[in-house]
Amino acid sequence: MKISSHAVARMLGTWQEGPRPAHQRLSDRLRLLVLDGRLSLGAALPSERDLATALGTSRTTVGTAYRTLVDHGYLATKARARATVRLPHDTPSERRVSTDSATIDLSIAAPPAPVEILHAAFAAALEQLPRHFERHGYDRYGTAELREAVAEWYQRRGLPTAPDHIMITNGAQHAIGLLARTLLAPRDKVLIDHPTYPHAIRTFTEARALPLPVAVGPSGWDTAQLQAAARAAQLAYLIPDFHNPTGLCMSAGARRQLRLACLAIIDETMTDLALDGEKPEPCAVHMPAAVSVGSVSKSIWGGLRTGWIRAVPSLLERLDQARPATDLGTPVIEQLATAVLLNERQTERSDTPQQLRSQRDALRQSLTEYLPDVHAPQPAGGITLWATFREPISSRLAAIAPDYGVTIAAGPRFGIGGAFERHIRLPYTLPSSQLAEAVRRLAQAQLALTQGATGTHTPAPVA
Ligand SMILES: Cc1ncc(COP(=O)(O)O)c(C=O)c1O
Repeated sequence: MKISSHAVARMLGTWQEGPRPAHQRLSDRLRLLVLDGRLSLGAALPSERDLATALGTSRTTVGTAYRTLVDHGYLATKARARATVRLPHDTPSERRVSTDSATIDLSIAAPPAPVEILHAAFAAALEQLPRHFERHGYDRYGTAELREAVAEWYQRRGLPTAPDHIMITNGAQHAIGLLARTLLAPRDKVLIDHPTYPHAIRTFTEARALPLPVAVGPSGWDTAQLQAAARAAQLAYLIPDFHNPTGLCMSAGARRQLRLACLAIIDETMTDLALDGEKPEPCAVHMPAAVSVGSVSKSIWGGLRTGWIRAVPSLLERLDQARPATDLGTPVIEQLATAVLLNERQTERSDTPQQLRSQRDALRQSLTEYLPDVHAPQPAGGITLWATFREPISSRLAAIAPDYGVTIAAGPRFGIGGAFERHIRLPYTLPSSQLAEAVRRLAQAQLALTQGATGTHTPAPVA
């Protein structure tokens, strides 16, 4: 894939500031973009001349930076072709993705499974499974049991929903991908929260759509800005319920006011995880045309890979036509187990928020102790803190952190154009003692950074 000089310039952000020679700052920043996955392996970089023009710097600076990257194994060159991104051969695989069991993984925001509850749900599902044996088992809309259970989940939240408004998917990410493939044409604009869930950004850019970011600030969403941006967009993707990564929840007033000129996908993956206060009202109560996506990945377990789309039947028909290009349905046993879980209201158990609340508070306490300069507001729900450093160190910290036994997701992965270099996302899905140890290790990594250390790790996957 060719990357334009302007796209690289946007990703580089403010690389020009700093004491070291410009070519070194540029090669360091490009290397971090490779390690962080924002410049993907095999991507073809712009020519030296084009990048120099886009950056307003000399061709010698870009040429020297490219040569440094070639020497260190991060770029491959061939005569008369663009330089392509690669990784050094001598990077031992265990340094690329941390598989060390002693490493604390803060890059994935997802809880462990509630073991006994899952056991019981699968036991019940196994008993029901023979009912499905007479049919072929391919069902692109999902089983009647789960479509009914999801429709009930919406009814309980005050949104009248019939099973024929529901399509079952392999998790919410699959739902977003299916919607993007069906609804977007190249160069369409997609309004997104900024920051937002990284895999959604990737889904939209891979559909060759153009993200149109609207800031989610410390106090949340600005409905006037959203409405103005929606007039220029073909699609909107919003996470109003305990937003990933900030944990913010759109106010009831904003929900009532919000009217978007384009079709909106409302991601409700975190809805059941209200930690302080009530669960929010579904946005679709006020925006009847909105498409909602959800899953049990955060309220029960990501390994179930079960999610859904709530939409008008005519849109579900279009999705049904598009779906076979990538998959032919969701496994029946997982659907039956998920239906049991929803019918028993296991996603709404009170012990889940209780535990998350205590882990959230422990994580914030550890930050105060070990990283007192970091600002991490208390989120109303969800599973992550959005922490801000004083300096733009996020990518460098993510690259060095595995050397200190912890992996994190760097802030710029949650945005576009190199934004959020002062932020990191910290999930509180691990036990409090591990969270405290992880923060202590992060503090060591930050200290090493200030003393000039650099890291070579490729990013851990985020979720
Ligand atoms: C906001 C948001 N949407 C969707 C997903 C994907 O969820 P699933 O595991 O159901 O595919 C995630 C996972 O982290 C998420 O945070």
